[in-house]
Amino acid sequence: MTESWKEQNWSEYYQLMCGQPPHSTLLKALALFEADGIQKTKYRAVDLGCGSGNDSLELLRLGWEVVAMDREAEALGWLKAGIAPEQNKRLETIQVDFEDIQIPKVDLVNAGYSLPFCPPKIFSDLWNKICNSLEQGGRFSGHFFGIHDGYAEIPEISIQTQDAIADLFKNYDVEYLDERDQLGATIGGIQKHWHIFSLVAKKNR
Ligand SMILES: C[S@@+](CC[C@H](N)C(=O)[O-])C[C@H]1O[C@@H](n2cnc3c(N)ncnc32)[C@H](O)[C@@H]1O
Repeated sequence: MTESWKEQNWSEYYQLMCGQPPHSTLLKALALFEADGIQKTKYRAVDLGCGSGNDSLELLRLGWEVVAMDREAEALGWLKAGIAPEQNKRLETIQVDFEDIQIPKVDLVNAGYSLPFCPPKIFSDLWNKICNSLEQGGRFSGHFFGIHDGYAEIPEISIQTQDAIADLFKNYDVEYLDERDQLGATIGGIQKHWHIFSLVAKKNR
């Protein structure tokens, strides 16, 4: 295992991430909903592996209803500490492992840097739940690790090839896809190789 994986300490990660801007994948998805020009009375999102909740906070700020899920109670604590009192009624937090997750019907499934941490043996079950939770026209925004990632050899990590990504999104229009394959620092300042697919897609059937 790499040094940066051994350093993997969600407490430190949450602290460092707190107050960071939302992921660009989420912002792109939100802009695409706006461009659809459909005025729904309410929009609902699930934030899978929400961490300290920067993406959930942005969704709440924009009036969305949010179901934020994470295995770590501490993550949900950070998120709840960051919301304004009037946002409370639009936020549901659920402490749950990906293995046991039930995802309600939503307009958006957001998964910022969380799906790679889903163990490979349950990834396809989780992916089916994600797909079933989205109506036609709903969107996914999030990230996947590719085969060159510094964490790719770790058995608990789910990695995707380009073909696997194409297969995951066969019932979607991929509206944004960026592949980054380069050395870079973790939020904790440790160098690792990043092979990241950042993606936004709209379910088309
Ligand atoms: C890299 S962090 C990303 C957090 C947040 N989405 C962000 O972008 O800052 C991954 C998150 O996934 C959560 N996670 C990892 N494995 C999980 C599992 N099996 N079930 C539920 N959540 C999990 C971790 O607790 C962590 O908060």
